[in-house]
Amino acid sequence: MKKIAILTRDCAGVNAAIRSIVRTACKYKLKVLGVLREYDGLIDNQIITLDRGSVSGIINTGGTILKTARSERFFIESEQKKAIQNIKNNNIDGLIVIGGDGSLRGAHVLATKYNIPVVGIPATIDNDVNSVDLAIGADTAVNVALDALDKIRDTATSLERIFVVEVMGRECGYIALNVALAGGCEEVLIPEKTFDIDTMCEEIKTGSSKGKESWIIIVAEGKAKEHDIANIITEKTNLETRVVVLGHIQRGGHPTSVDRVMAARLGNYAVNVLRDSVTDRCVSLKDGKLVTIPLEVAVQPKKTDVNTYYKLIKILT
Ligand code: F6P
Repeated sequence: MKKIAILTRDCAGVNAAIRSIVRTACKYKLKVLGVLREYDGLIDNQIITLDRGSVSGIINTGGTILKTARSERFFIESEQKKAIQNIKNNNIDGLIVIGGDGSLRGAHVLATKYNIPVVGIPATIDNDVNSVDLAIGADTAVNVALDALDKIRDTATSLERIFVVEVMGRECGYIALNVALAGGCEEVLIPEKTFDIDTMCEEIKTGSSKGKESWIIIVAEGKAKEHDIANIITEKTNLETRVVVLGHIQRGGHPTSVDRVMAARLGNYAVNVLRDSVTDRCVSLKDGKLVTIPLEVAVQPKKTDVNTYYKLIKILT
């Protein structure tokens, strides 16, 4: 193996992973290329050379220095063939794909359909890569959301209001559950769990009659429309509500130490396993130890126990 390439999605910690890959590869005297704009860049041959110097000063930055895109084109066979041709033309012997479900799905296609040596690194704020305890970026996203929530709480408490706060997670309540538990929130609405708004409004009314003054309700973006929830609460309880949508601030920001350390370890490990001819697998940490799992498993829907955290949130309210 002489030359590897890196392709990424964006979230905090991805740059730290790129740095780890490049510097590990330098140790083995491997050449490294960076594919710009994820699979679109592979199709269009937007590929740059990376060396030790190109990854200095990025360990603490969010996003990805390689830029990214949500490539619809890569799932068209004729476009895939262009990507394969570019892999061949650039003499790429192996690819490391850093990203979530969509990126890893593309990696699995490259490995199985075109026999390209590929290793994935899970990186997504949704933390929804199957069989992976923690993806790069998820810890930072929870901490960014929590920081905002702590500030919202100041107003909620002072003005005795109900805040409905939408966090990211279209199909997955990871951020919502963690933020709700760490932030001491009263309720959390997530895609994985059914929810009865009448019961919630009754709880608010009971609490209010006993002197409780403020509530913070976390809504994962995939579960419900936050404005609808707020309007129903006001209608049924006669209490004042405000809505805050945290949005894309959760995908940016300086990576936490958890994300940086994981990025360093997984980036280094990905190069090592690729050199050992491992392919079609995703690296991750299990009980603190480095492991690989088949990409086919990683891209299946993640089964998560949401009830343990949910019950704890309700007990502690
Ligand atoms: O998958 C990460 C994520 O941030 C989700 O939580 C969110 O639903 C989605 O991406 C937003 O995507 P976009 O930035 O393309 O609107």
